[in-house]
Amino acid sequence: EAGRLWGGRFTGKTDPVMEQFNASISYDKRLWKADIQGSQAYVKALEQAGLVSPEERLAIHHGLEKVAIEWSEDRFVLQPSDEDIHTANERRLKELIGSAAGKLHTGRSRNDQVATDMRLWLREQLQILRSFMVQLIQVICTRAQQDIHILMPGYTHLQRAQPIRWSHWLLSYAFMLQRDVQRLDQLMDRVNVLPLGCGALAGNPFNVDRQLLARELNFPAVALNSLDGTSDRDFVAEFLFWASMTSVHLSKWAEDLIIYSTKEFSFVLLADAYSTGSSLMPQKKNPDSLELIRGKSGRMYGRCTSLMMTLKGLPSTYNKDLQEDKEGMFDVCDTMTGVLQVAIGVISTLKVNQEACLAALSPDMLATDLAYFLVNKGVPFREAHSLSGECVALAEKKQCKLSELSVRDFESVSASFDASVTKVWDYENSVEQYRSIGGTSRASVQQQIARLQVWLAEQ
Ligand code: ARG
Repeated sequence: EAGRLWGGRFTGKTDPVMEQFNASISYDKRLWKADIQGSQAYVKALEQAGLVSPEERLAIHHGLEKVAIEWSEDRFVLQPSDEDIHTANERRLKELIGSAAGKLHTGRSRNDQVATDMRLWLREQLQILRSFMVQLIQVICTRAQQDIHILMPGYTHLQRAQPIRWSHWLLSYAFMLQRDVQRLDQLMDRVNVLPLGCGALAGNPFNVDRQLLARELNFPAVALNSLDGTSDRDFVAEFLFWASMTSVHLSKWAEDLIIYSTKEFSFVLLADAYSTGSSLMPQKKNPDSLELIRGKSGRMYGRCTSLMMTLKGLPSTYNKDLQEDKEGMFDVCDTMTGVLQVAIGVISTLKVNQEACLAALSPDMLATDLAYFLVNKGVPFREAHSLSGECVALAEKKQCKLSELSVRDFESVSASFDASVTKVWDYENSVEQYRSIGGTSRASVQQQIARLQVWLAEQ
């Protein structure tokens, strides 16, 4: 059949539905640049191995440049026979330079080609995603510094637990995201392994210099086993897991802010730029940006699961199932790019309502501090915990706030209480107790920012 690269042994036609079903060009055309880069490197290795002449190499190289320009100017005209990006580019090259184009694929297979293209493509995208991640951590640090004076309730089980600094809450996400950047760097090392020269599965019979290919394409390592090199998609799965994990962190962050932005909490006010209204209820201002960040984490997790399912149970080396690796990778890249940009925008434009955060604090959240008061008087913690609990019960009985109990009330619970117990009812003092590394005191939060800033300066 005309135009097909593998048609030689076929006499029958492909069913048109099958042709459509088999084709990946509608989405893998995004790999056009990587595909051309890979081919330009490969033709150099072919020249060095004596399989193409210097003139043929130049003709192929320049022909590929022309194909690249067509793509970049959106002038590349797809033909019905273009099954995927590899066949499309080679078909066009042949039209432009003639029969020399037929030498380009010597010893190469679409199996090592597509694996190479995907690594080249993903590598570039990972750099972009990485820089958004670093930017997000930077914005978090800036806000944490700016809002360090703001106190708010810290929650466990979504129940008010202990007073903390707003910045302490915010910075917890900087550390999650920092680990995500570290994970990204680690997976990058595994993306950065070159499969080109692995052929269809058995390797390259023309002694092409794979180290030369690696230098040309700027890969620090080559795949050392051709069976593995052509069919390893761990790197895609790892990327999808990375995005899932990162988006789970961002989903948690978004969920916190969605709660904090309700009228009931009013801790934060989302900028108009990241909110939407209701077509029915005129008063509504909805946190759609945050809801979508939360929602898209499900989508990315789904893509990860989906690839794992595809890989599970495959026999050795290339199987067409592997063509299913691409849409998820592209989609997750695009989705993550949007998520990170919106997260950066939301956090840099968010207004924090200091008064509402403070007003949400209540003396019962200092019951732990009341126990610590007794600990400082020499009472063992277990006993102090129980005595403080008795004070809470007494306040409940008297239907007053814990801080409204009289000194005499406290003394009735334990002789270790005295008039200085009133000093406990100070939220600022409360957070300032947590001076050990990692705590919520000003100094400790400042230290967190400083450590992150050192790291950021190295990025
Ligand atoms: N479009 C194919 C893919 O994405 C390219 C590799 C085809 N290889 C093959 N042996 N049919 O996986």
